[in-house]
Amino acid sequence: SERTALGPLVGAIDQGTSSTRFLVFNAKTAELLSHHQVEIKQEFPREGWVEQDPKEILNSVYECVEKTCEKMKQLNINIGNIRAIGVTNQRETTVVWDKTTGEPLYNAIVWLDLRTQSTVERLLKRIPGKNKTFSKFKTGLPLSTYFSAVKLRWLLDNVEEIRKAVEDRRAMFGTIDSWLIWSLTGGKNGGIHCTDVTNASRTMLFNIHSLEWDPELCKFFDIPMEILPNVRSSSEVYGLMKSGALTGVPISGCLGDQSAALVGQMCFRDGQAKNTYGTGCFLLCNTGQKSVFSEHGLITTIAYKMGRDKPAFYALEGSVAIAGAVVRWLRDNLGIAKTSQEVEKLAADVGTSYGCYFVPAFSGLYAPYWEPSARGIICGLTQFTNKSHIAFAALEAVCFQTREILDAMNKDCGIPLSQLQVDGGMTNNKILMQLQSDILCIPVVKPSMPETTALGAAMAAGAAEGVGVWSLNPGDLTAVTCERFEPQINPEESEYRYARWKKAVMKSMGWET
Ligand code: G3P
Repeated sequence: SERTALGPLVGAIDQGTSSTRFLVFNAKTAELLSHHQVEIKQEFPREGWVEQDPKEILNSVYECVEKTCEKMKQLNINIGNIRAIGVTNQRETTVVWDKTTGEPLYNAIVWLDLRTQSTVERLLKRIPGKNKTFSKFKTGLPLSTYFSAVKLRWLLDNVEEIRKAVEDRRAMFGTIDSWLIWSLTGGKNGGIHCTDVTNASRTMLFNIHSLEWDPELCKFFDIPMEILPNVRSSSEVYGLMKSGALTGVPISGCLGDQSAALVGQMCFRDGQAKNTYGTGCFLLCNTGQKSVFSEHGLITTIAYKMGRDKPAFYALEGSVAIAGAVVRWLRDNLGIAKTSQEVEKLAADVGTSYGCYFVPAFSGLYAPYWEPSARGIICGLTQFTNKSHIAFAALEAVCFQTREILDAMNKDCGIPLSQLQVDGGMTNNKILMQLQSDILCIPVVKPSMPETTALGAAMAAGAAEGVGVWSLNPGDLTAVTCERFEPQINPEESEYRYARWKKAVMKSMGWET
């Protein structure tokens, strides 16, 4: 039948902070054929701590792969046509496991986790002038609780089993991509211990110019280099799936989720940018083969490297820790609604915050402030304020945070973005997208196929040498249709609200010193 004659297909494992997905695309048309999604638990064992169970994450991947394959069989699509699998993942989240048993030695410390605040302070004391950006030109990053090196340092300092495993040469470190690829390619029976340049660039142990682990930084953080994975390009065969319905299929693409979204949005040219609204919110602008260093609080990261012999491309990134997570918080912690959709409906019902501002600095503030001492605040309350206004203020906060990073990006790049390409779960919310356009005073453009993160990973996997079912020519996909949101309020009104937001941000700082 027609469905069996689709031609080569490519799968993508998308392991995000809130959920895991497996998606299958047609390599010729980029059409999404089938997918399955599973929510992932987050544990908050102490204030500021965020952990996940690496085994649960791995099992969720297996479950998504199996369920998607079952759905495909029902659709009469031949899973034998899946030629390659790409992996894309929440970045920085840190796992250490025992290579002899295949078992994790501690929960994964999630990127949002704040337990390393004192580790960061201790390390800062050793740097002349306590300069947070001491390794900016090597790693592109400021010293922050966000990146993997300090999380790994904490694990080595605090988990006896890990210290012991390092001594016995049984320990392996990895971000989620490494943990998954190692496990899926055989685990303790010959699994491949690797990562790609984009994920490596989030550890603070990686030199983004030489594309190698940096011995000096490893020494500074006192990290044993033998536990680090091999760094590979984002598009090459790393190994084969060793079990399940897709046994024998090569894993041949690997990108941190924000890099994958940049690829999936076809931002291959210098100056092209996208903003992804997930748990957090991340605006990345491709700067081509040159690394650009921000003067305005952005970070420099690797965008992708599409093959062993291909050059690395770089991006400027504005990272916002809390976006979708603020809706989840209103639902789970305050219980103002039973579902995230209900929170959005509350906001839509009032259509204004009535002067209420909500700065969701739950994990301190990331770009452009990099202020770990900030904590969330809701201000501007009156007798009149109700939960709907607070829900609206939460959505508005996502838009204001994006405005702050867009402003920084425009200053660093010199040429202001004339429109913003967006994707991610929250972009299904039309009110939010309209609000975003109003607050930025530029059009917001959303592709009709919202799974750009998974698409980017599938493209990298399909284009790998030896697989070759996907060509990375941006011209191939010009037929992508989009939805546009144009600014509808006048710029003065927008500037007034933005100025008030900035005042609220100032009030959120200095709580935890
Ligand atoms: O840096 C963290 C980021 O990769 C997480 O992405 O989509 O899970 O919010 P997301």
